[in-house]
Amino acid sequence: MSEDLFAKCGTDGGYFGEFRHSGDRYFTQPLLDSLPGRRMSFGGRECVMWSINNYLGLAESEEVKAAARDALETWGTSAPMGARMMSGNTGEHEAFEKALADFAGKQASILFNYGYLGVMGTVSALVGPDDIVVVDKLDHASIIDAAVGAVQTRRNLRVFRHNDMESLESLLKDINKTRKKGVLVITEGVYGMTGDLARLDAICALKDRYEARLMIDDAHGFGVMGPSGRGTAEHFGVADEVDIYFGTFAKAFASIGGVSAAPSDVIEWIRYNARTQVFAKALPMVYVKSLQKTLELVRGGQARRERLFEVARRLASGLRELGFYVGKVESPIVPVFTPGGGDPRVAMDWIRFLRDQQVFVTGVMYPVIPKNYVEFRMVPTASHQDEDIELTLEAFRKLRDEKKLDLSMDWSGIEKLYGSK
Ligand SMILES: Cc1ncc(COP(=O)(O)O)c(C=O)c1O
Repeated sequence: MSEDLFAKCGTDGGYFGEFRHSGDRYFTQPLLDSLPGRRMSFGGRECVMWSINNYLGLAESEEVKAAARDALETWGTSAPMGARMMSGNTGEHEAFEKALADFAGKQASILFNYGYLGVMGTVSALVGPDDIVVVDKLDHASIIDAAVGAVQTRRNLRVFRHNDMESLESLLKDINKTRKKGVLVITEGVYGMTGDLARLDAICALKDRYEARLMIDDAHGFGVMGPSGRGTAEHFGVADEVDIYFGTFAKAFASIGGVSAAPSDVIEWIRYNARTQVFAKALPMVYVKSLQKTLELVRGGQARRERLFEVARRLASGLRELGFYVGKVESPIVPVFTPGGGDPRVAMDWIRFLRDQQVFVTGVMYPVIPKNYVEFRMVPTASHQDEDIELTLEAFRKLRDEKKLDLSMDWSGIEKLYGSK
Protein backbone atom coordinates (compact mmCIF):
# COMPACT_ATOMS: atom_id res chain seq x y z
CA MET A 1 0.00 0.00 0.00
CA SER A 2 1.26 3.47 -0.76
CA GLU A 3 1.31 6.07 1.99
CA ASP A 4 -1.86 8.00 2.73
CA LEU A 5 -1.84 11.73 1.98
CA PHE A 6 -2.51 12.56 5.64
CA ALA A 7 0.18 10.25 7.09
CA LYS A 8 2.65 13.12 7.47
CA CYS A 9 0.22 15.21 9.53
CA GLY A 10 0.78 13.14 12.66
CA THR A 11 4.58 13.49 12.46
CA ASP A 12 6.97 16.32 13.33
CA GLY A 13 7.85 16.90 9.65
CA GLY A 14 7.06 19.90 7.47
CA TYR A 15 7.67 23.58 8.19
CA PHE A 16 8.09 24.28 11.90
CA GLY A 17 7.22 20.61 12.38
CA GLU A 18 8.47 20.25 15.95
CA PHE A 19 6.50 23.30 17.04
CA ARG A 20 3.34 22.09 15.34
CA HIS A 21 3.71 18.58 16.69
CA SER A 22 4.13 19.81 20.26
CA GLY A 23 1.12 22.16 20.02
CA ASP A 24 3.28 25.26 20.49
CA ARG A 25 1.52 28.61 20.92
CA TYR A 26 4.50 30.51 22.31
CA PHE A 27 7.12 30.76 19.55
CA THR A 28 4.78 29.97 16.67
CA GLN A 29 1.21 31.26 16.55
CA PRO A 30 1.52 33.16 19.87
CA LEU A 31 -1.85 34.35 21.13
CA LEU A 32 -1.99 38.15 21.05
CA ASP A 33 -5.55 39.16 21.77
CA SER A 34 -5.22 42.89 22.32
CA LEU A 35 -5.50 45.79 19.87
CA PRO A 36 -2.24 46.18 17.90
CA GLY A 37 -0.08 48.84 19.52
CA ARG A 38 3.09 49.62 21.49
CA ARG A 39 1.90 47.51 24.40
CA MET A 40 0.09 44.23 23.89
CA SER A 41 -1.08 41.44 26.09
CA PHE A 42 0.80 38.16 25.82
CA GLY A 43 0.48 35.23 28.21
CA GLY A 44 -1.66 37.34 30.56
CA ARG A 45 0.97 40.10 30.85
CA GLU A 46 1.47 43.41 29.13
CA CYS A 47 4.55 43.50 26.89
CA VAL A 48 6.29 46.18 24.88
CA MET A 49 5.62 45.03 21.34
CA TRP A 50 8.49 45.06 18.81
CA SER A 51 7.09 42.56 16.34
CA ILE A 52 4.27 44.20 14.42
CA ASN A 53 4.72 46.33 11.31
CA ASN A 54 2.42 49.10 12.51
CA TYR A 55 5.16 51.54 11.48
CA LEU A 56 3.18 54.77 11.62
CA GLY A 57 1.00 53.78 14.57
CA LEU A 58 -2.11 53.88 12.39
CA ALA A 59 -3.48 50.62 13.82
CA GLU A 60 -4.63 52.72 16.76
CA SER A 61 -6.11 55.55 14.65
CA GLU A 62 -9.59 56.61 15.79
CA GLU A 63 -10.12 58.40 12.46
CA VAL A 64 -9.59 55.17 10.52
CA LYS A 65 -11.91 53.30 12.88
CA ALA A 66 -14.58 55.97 12.39
CA ALA A 67 -14.26 55.70 8.59
CA ALA A 68 -14.62 51.92 8.86
CA ARG A 69 -17.69 52.29 11.11
CA ASP A 70 -19.34 54.66 8.62
CA ALA A 71 -18.61 52.29 5.75
CA LEU A 72 -19.93 49.35 7.72
CA GLU A 73 -23.15 51.24 8.45
CA THR A 74 -23.70 51.91 4.74
CA TRP A 75 -22.25 48.84 3.07
CA GLY A 76 -22.23 46.07 5.66
CA THR A 77 -19.53 43.42 5.30
CA SER A 78 -20.85 42.02 2.02
CA ALA A 79 -20.31 44.81 -0.48
CA PRO A 80 -19.29 44.50 -3.17
CA MET A 81 -20.37 41.00 -4.15
CA GLY A 82 -18.32 39.10 -6.71
CA ALA A 83 -15.08 39.58 -8.59
CA ARG A 84 -14.52 43.04 -10.06
CA MET A 85 -14.62 41.59 -13.57
CA MET A 86 -18.23 40.46 -13.07
CA SER A 87 -20.16 42.31 -10.37
CA GLY A 88 -17.72 43.53 -7.72
CA ASN A 89 -16.42 46.77 -9.22
CA THR A 90 -17.39 50.16 -7.76
CA GLY A 91 -16.52 53.80 -8.30
CA GLU A 92 -14.94 53.81 -4.83
CA HIS A 93 -12.48 51.07 -5.84
CA GLU A 94 -11.56 52.98 -8.99
CA ALA A 95 -11.25 56.32 -7.19
CA PHE A 96 -8.98 54.73 -4.59
CA GLU A 97 -6.82 53.22 -7.34
CA LYS A 98 -6.45 56.68 -8.88
CA ALA A 99 -5.40 58.13 -5.53
CA LEU A 100 -2.87 55.34 -4.99
CA ALA A 101 -1.44 55.76 -8.49
CA ASP A 102 -1.00 59.45 -7.79
CA PHE A 103 0.71 58.67 -4.46
CA ALA A 104 3.07 56.18 -6.14
CA GLY A 105 3.77 58.61 -9.01
CA LYS A 106 2.46 56.19 -11.65
CA GLN A 107 -0.27 56.45 -14.28
CA ALA A 108 -2.52 53.75 -12.82
CA SER A 109 -2.83 51.15 -10.11
CA ILE A 110 -4.76 48.00 -9.27
CA LEU A 111 -5.96 46.78 -5.88
CA PHE A 112 -5.45 43.26 -4.55
CA ASN A 113 -7.00 41.59 -1.53
CA TYR A 114 -3.68 40.68 0.12
CA GLY A 115 -0.09 41.67 -0.62
CA TYR A 116 0.78 38.03 -1.19
CA LEU A 117 -1.98 37.68 -3.78
CA GLY A 118 -0.93 40.97 -5.36
CA VAL A 119 2.63 39.83 -5.95
CA MET A 120 1.40 36.48 -7.24
CA GLY A 121 -1.18 38.09 -9.51
CA THR A 122 1.10 40.78 -10.90
CA VAL A 123 4.02 38.49 -11.68
CA SER A 124 1.93 35.66 -13.10
CA ALA A 125 -0.01 38.07 -15.32
CA LEU A 126 3.14 39.47 -16.89
CA VAL A 127 5.58 36.58 -17.06
CA GLY A 128 4.95 34.09 -19.84
CA PRO A 129 6.82 31.32 -21.65
CA ASP A 130 10.47 32.20 -22.25
CA ASP A 131 10.39 35.25 -19.99
CA ILE A 132 12.99 35.23 -17.22
CA VAL A 133 12.59 36.34 -13.60
CA VAL A 134 15.57 37.53 -11.57
CA VAL A 135 15.26 37.71 -7.78
CA ASP A 136 17.43 38.70 -4.82
CA LYS A 137 18.36 35.77 -2.55
CA LEU A 138 16.58 37.40 0.40
CA ASP A 139 13.38 38.25 -1.47
CA HIS A 140 10.16 37.53 0.43
CA ALA A 141 8.40 34.18 0.01
CA SER A 142 5.57 35.80 -1.98
CA ILE A 143 8.09 36.89 -4.63
CA ILE A 144 9.74 33.50 -4.77
CA ASP A 145 6.40 31.70 -4.96
CA ALA A 146 5.20 34.07 -7.67
CA ALA A 147 8.39 33.63 -9.67
CA VAL A 148 8.44 29.85 -9.32
CA GLY A 149 4.81 29.68 -10.40
CA ALA A 150 5.24 32.05 -13.34
CA VAL A 151 8.36 30.78 -15.10
CA GLN A 152 8.07 27.93 -17.52
CA THR A 153 11.20 26.11 -16.38
CA ARG A 154 13.41 26.52 -13.31
CA ARG A 155 16.18 27.73 -15.61
CA ASN A 156 14.11 30.86 -16.19
CA LEU A 157 14.32 31.77 -12.52
CA ARG A 158 17.68 33.28 -11.59
CA VAL A 159 18.86 34.36 -8.14
CA PHE A 160 21.54 36.96 -7.34
CA ARG A 161 23.41 37.35 -4.04
CA HIS A 162 21.65 39.65 -1.61
CA ASN A 163 22.02 43.27 -2.70
CA ASP A 164 25.18 42.38 -4.60
CA MET A 165 25.36 44.47 -7.74
CA GLU A 166 28.23 42.50 -9.25
CA SER A 167 26.20 39.33 -8.87
CA LEU A 168 23.14 40.98 -10.46
CA GLU A 169 25.16 42.43 -13.33
CA SER A 170 26.84 39.15 -14.16
CA LEU A 171 23.44 37.40 -14.17
CA LEU A 172 21.89 39.99 -16.49
CA LYS A 173 24.91 39.82 -18.80
CA ASP A 174 24.68 36.06 -18.92
CA ILE A 175 20.91 36.08 -19.52
CA ASN A 176 21.26 38.52 -22.42
CA LYS A 177 23.50 36.10 -24.30
CA THR A 178 20.60 33.73 -24.94
CA ARG A 179 17.38 35.46 -23.94
CA LYS A 180 14.41 35.10 -26.20
CA LYS A 181 11.95 37.40 -24.44
CA GLY A 182 11.51 39.69 -21.43
CA VAL A 183 13.38 39.86 -18.14
CA LEU A 184 11.74 40.92 -14.88
CA VAL A 185 13.98 41.80 -11.93
CA ILE A 186 12.12 41.75 -8.59
CA THR A 187 13.57 43.12 -5.38
CA GLU A 188 12.10 44.31 -2.14
CA GLY A 189 12.45 48.02 -1.33
CA VAL A 190 13.25 47.54 2.36
CA TYR A 191 14.35 43.99 3.11
CA GLY A 192 11.94 42.86 5.79
CA MET A 193 14.26 40.50 7.62
CA THR A 194 17.51 42.47 7.55
CA GLY A 195 16.18 46.04 7.35
CA ASP A 196 18.59 47.16 4.63
CA LEU A 197 17.49 48.88 1.43
CA ALA A 198 17.71 47.45 -2.07
CA ARG A 199 20.29 49.56 -3.90
CA LEU A 200 17.63 50.89 -6.20
CA ASP A 201 19.80 53.55 -7.84
CA ALA A 202 22.29 50.93 -9.00
CA ILE A 203 19.58 48.39 -9.80
CA CYS A 204 17.73 50.90 -12.00
CA ALA A 205 20.93 51.67 -13.89
CA LEU A 206 21.56 47.95 -14.44
CA LYS A 207 18.04 47.14 -15.58
CA ASP A 208 18.27 49.97 -18.13
CA ARG A 209 21.67 48.84 -19.35
CA TYR A 210 20.52 45.25 -19.81
CA GLU A 211 17.00 46.10 -21.00
CA ALA A 212 15.12 44.41 -18.19
CA ARG A 213 12.02 45.54 -16.30
CA LEU A 214 12.05 46.19 -12.55
CA MET A 215 9.32 45.47 -10.02
CA ILE A 216 9.87 46.42 -6.42
CA ASP A 217 7.85 44.94 -3.60
CA ASP A 218 8.03 47.81 -1.14
CA ALA A 219 5.93 46.18 1.56
CA HIS A 220 8.08 47.70 4.32
CA GLY A 221 8.83 51.03 2.62
CA PHE A 222 5.34 52.01 1.48
CA GLY A 223 4.18 54.98 3.58
CA VAL A 224 7.47 54.97 5.47
CA MET A 225 10.48 55.71 3.26
CA GLY A 226 11.20 58.83 1.22
CA PRO A 227 10.58 62.50 2.02
CA SER A 228 6.81 62.09 1.62
CA GLY A 229 6.41 58.41 2.49
CA ARG A 230 5.99 57.33 -1.13
CA GLY A 231 8.47 54.57 -0.59
CA THR A 232 11.99 53.38 -1.15
CA ALA A 233 12.03 54.45 -4.81
CA GLU A 234 11.25 57.99 -3.69
CA HIS A 235 14.04 57.69 -1.10
CA PHE A 236 16.53 56.98 -3.91
CA GLY A 237 14.93 59.48 -6.32
CA VAL A 238 14.17 56.74 -8.87
CA ALA A 239 10.35 56.47 -8.63
CA ASP A 240 10.00 57.15 -12.38
CA GLU A 241 12.48 54.43 -13.29
CA VAL A 242 10.87 51.61 -11.33
CA ASP A 243 8.54 49.90 -13.81
CA ILE A 244 6.13 48.36 -11.29
CA TYR A 245 5.81 49.66 -7.76
CA PHE A 246 4.12 47.30 -5.33
CA GLY A 247 2.92 47.96 -1.78
CA THR A 248 0.87 46.08 0.78
CA PHE A 249 -1.58 47.65 3.22
CA ALA A 250 -0.61 45.11 5.87
CA LYS A 251 2.26 47.18 7.32
CA ALA A 252 2.33 51.00 7.59
CA PHE A 253 -1.29 51.18 6.36
CA ALA A 254 -2.28 48.76 9.17
CA SER A 255 -5.04 47.10 7.16
CA ILE A 256 -5.48 44.44 4.47
CA GLY A 257 -4.81 44.46 0.74
CA GLY A 258 -2.12 45.42 -1.73
CA VAL A 259 -1.54 47.56 -4.80
CA SER A 260 0.53 47.46 -7.98
CA ALA A 261 1.20 50.78 -9.71
CA ALA A 262 2.60 51.10 -13.24
CA PRO A 263 1.84 52.62 -16.68
CA SER A 264 -1.88 52.43 -17.61
CA ASP A 265 -1.55 49.77 -20.30
CA VAL A 266 0.42 47.52 -17.96
CA ILE A 267 -2.17 47.90 -15.20
CA GLU A 268 -5.03 47.17 -17.63
CA TRP A 269 -3.16 44.04 -18.74
CA ILE A 270 -2.79 42.96 -15.11
CA ARG A 271 -6.46 43.78 -14.42
CA TYR A 272 -7.56 41.27 -17.05
CA ASN A 273 -4.85 38.65 -16.49
CA ALA A 274 -4.09 38.47 -12.76
CA ARG A 275 -5.83 35.26 -11.79
CA THR A 276 -5.62 36.01 -8.05
CA GLN A 277 -7.91 38.98 -8.70
CA VAL A 278 -9.94 37.95 -11.75
CA PHE A 279 -11.14 34.85 -9.92
CA ALA A 280 -11.51 36.35 -6.42
CA LYS A 281 -14.08 38.56 -4.70
CA ALA A 282 -13.24 42.28 -4.67
CA LEU A 283 -11.65 43.98 -1.65
CA PRO A 284 -14.57 44.76 0.70
CA MET A 285 -15.86 48.31 0.85
CA VAL A 286 -15.12 48.57 4.59
CA TYR A 287 -11.44 48.29 3.71
CA VAL A 288 -11.58 50.51 0.63
CA LYS A 289 -13.31 53.33 2.52
CA SER A 290 -11.17 53.10 5.64
CA LEU A 291 -8.01 52.85 3.53
CA GLN A 292 -8.94 56.10 1.78
CA LYS A 293 -8.75 57.75 5.19
CA THR A 294 -5.49 55.91 5.93
CA LEU A 295 -3.94 57.19 2.70
CA GLU A 296 -4.83 60.73 3.77
CA LEU A 297 -3.10 60.14 7.13
CA VAL A 298 -0.07 58.60 5.41
CA ARG A 299 0.19 61.58 3.07
CA GLY A 300 0.11 63.95 6.01
CA GLY A 301 2.20 61.62 8.15
CA GLN A 302 5.49 63.53 8.33
CA ALA A 303 5.45 63.84 12.12
CA ARG A 304 4.71 60.12 12.47
CA ARG A 305 7.59 59.24 10.12
CA GLU A 306 9.97 61.48 12.04
CA ARG A 307 8.96 59.90 15.35
CA LEU A 308 9.30 56.42 13.86
CA PHE A 309 12.88 57.05 12.76
CA GLU A 310 13.68 58.70 16.09
CA VAL A 311 12.48 55.58 17.94
CA ALA A 312 14.58 53.40 15.62
CA ARG A 313 17.69 55.55 16.15
CA ARG A 314 17.31 55.61 19.93
CA LEU A 315 16.71 51.89 20.17
CA ALA A 316 19.66 51.11 17.90
CA SER A 317 22.07 53.42 19.67
CA GLY A 318 21.01 52.16 23.11
CA LEU A 319 21.57 48.56 22.03
CA ARG A 320 24.95 49.41 20.51
CA GLU A 321 25.97 51.09 23.76
CA LEU A 322 25.15 47.82 25.53
CA GLY A 323 27.55 46.08 23.13
CA PHE A 324 25.05 44.39 20.84
CA TYR A 325 25.79 44.26 17.15
CA VAL A 326 23.08 46.20 15.34
CA GLY A 327 23.12 45.85 11.55
CA LYS A 328 22.35 48.57 9.07
CA VAL A 329 19.53 50.83 10.22
CA GLU A 330 18.59 52.35 6.87
CA SER A 331 14.90 51.73 7.41
CA PRO A 332 12.91 51.61 10.65
CA ILE A 333 13.72 47.91 11.14
CA VAL A 334 16.39 47.42 13.81
CA PRO A 335 18.21 44.09 13.31
CA VAL A 336 20.01 43.10 16.52
CA PHE A 337 22.50 40.27 16.18
CA THR A 338 23.76 38.03 18.95
CA PRO A 339 26.04 35.00 18.92
CA GLY A 340 23.92 31.89 18.55
CA GLY A 341 25.91 28.98 17.23
CA GLY A 342 22.99 27.88 15.06
CA ASP A 343 21.15 26.14 17.90
CA PRO A 344 17.46 27.11 17.84
CA ARG A 345 17.13 26.25 21.55
CA VAL A 346 19.54 29.05 22.41
CA ALA A 347 17.46 31.56 20.48
CA MET A 348 14.28 30.26 22.09
CA ASP A 349 15.78 30.57 25.56
CA TRP A 350 16.68 34.21 24.88
CA ILE A 351 13.33 35.05 23.34
CA ARG A 352 11.64 33.60 26.42
CA PHE A 353 13.98 35.56 28.68
CA LEU A 354 13.11 38.83 26.94
CA ARG A 355 9.38 38.09 26.96
CA ASP A 356 9.62 37.32 30.67
CA GLN A 357 11.01 40.85 30.99
CA GLN A 358 7.88 42.11 29.15
CA VAL A 359 9.68 42.68 25.86
CA PHE A 360 8.05 40.89 22.94
CA VAL A 361 10.54 40.17 20.16
CA THR A 362 10.82 37.52 17.47
CA GLY A 363 13.97 35.82 16.31
CA VAL A 364 15.41 35.11 12.87
CA MET A 365 17.89 32.31 12.33
CA TYR A 366 19.66 30.27 9.69
CA PRO A 367 18.98 29.93 6.74
CA VAL A 368 17.81 33.58 6.53
CA ILE A 369 21.01 34.70 8.28
CA PRO A 370 24.37 32.89 8.62
CA LYS A 371 24.60 29.94 11.04
CA ASN A 372 26.59 31.43 13.91
CA TYR A 373 24.14 34.16 14.78
CA VAL A 374 20.66 34.87 16.08
CA GLU A 375 18.85 38.02 14.99
CA PHE A 376 16.22 39.79 17.03
CA ARG A 377 14.27 41.61 14.36
CA MET A 378 12.88 44.65 16.13
CA VAL A 379 10.20 46.78 14.54
CA PRO A 380 9.81 50.26 16.01
CA THR A 381 6.62 52.24 15.46
CA ALA A 382 5.70 55.90 15.76
CA SER A 383 3.63 55.04 18.84
CA HIS A 384 6.51 53.72 20.95
CA GLN A 385 7.35 55.97 23.90
CA ASP A 386 10.73 56.65 25.43
CA GLU A 387 9.75 54.53 28.45
CA ASP A 388 9.23 51.54 26.11
CA ILE A 389 12.77 51.95 24.82
CA GLU A 390 14.16 52.22 28.35
CA LEU A 391 12.36 49.10 29.54
CA THR A 392 13.62 47.25 26.46
CA LEU A 393 17.24 48.33 26.90
CA GLU A 394 17.13 47.20 30.52
CA ALA A 395 15.84 43.77 29.42
CA PHE A 396 18.67 43.45 26.87
CA ARG A 397 21.21 44.50 29.53
CA LYS A 398 19.92 41.71 31.77
CA LEU A 399 20.02 39.25 28.86
CA ARG A 400 23.63 40.17 28.16
CA ASP A 401 24.68 39.85 31.81
CA GLU A 402 22.61 36.90 33.03
CA LYS A 403 23.19 34.79 29.91
CA LYS A 404 26.84 35.90 29.82
CA LEU A 405 26.74 36.72 26.11
CA ASP A 406 30.13 37.06 24.46
CA LEU A 407 29.48 40.06 22.24
CA SER A 408 33.12 40.43 21.21
CA MET A 409 32.79 37.76 18.54
CA ASP A 410 33.65 38.04 14.86
CA TRP A 411 30.74 39.75 13.05
CA SER A 412 32.13 39.48 9.53
CA GLY A 413 29.51 36.87 8.57
CA ILE A 414 26.84 39.46 9.20
CA GLU A 415 28.72 42.18 7.35
CA LYS A 416 28.86 39.88 4.32
CA LEU A 417 25.11 39.26 4.58
CA TYR A 418 24.54 42.87 3.57
CA GLY A 419 26.21 42.37 0.19
CA SER A 420 28.93 44.27 -1.63
CA LYS A 421 28.68 47.70 -3.23
C1 LIG B 1 8.03 41.87 1.18
C2 LIG B 1 6.64 41.36 1.41
N1 LIG B 1 5.85 41.13 0.35
C3 LIG B 1 4.59 40.67 0.50
C4 LIG B 1 4.07 40.40 1.74
C5 LIG B 1 2.70 39.85 1.86
O1 LIG B 1 1.81 40.88 2.22
P1 LIG B 1 0.38 40.58 2.87
O2 LIG B 1 0.61 40.29 4.30
O3 LIG B 1 -0.39 41.84 2.61
O4 LIG B 1 -0.20 39.41 2.14
C6 LIG B 1 4.85 40.65 2.87
C7 LIG B 1 4.31 40.36 4.21
O5 LIG B 1 4.97 39.90 5.09
C8 LIG B 1 6.17 41.13 2.70
O6 LIG B 1 6.96 41.38 3.75
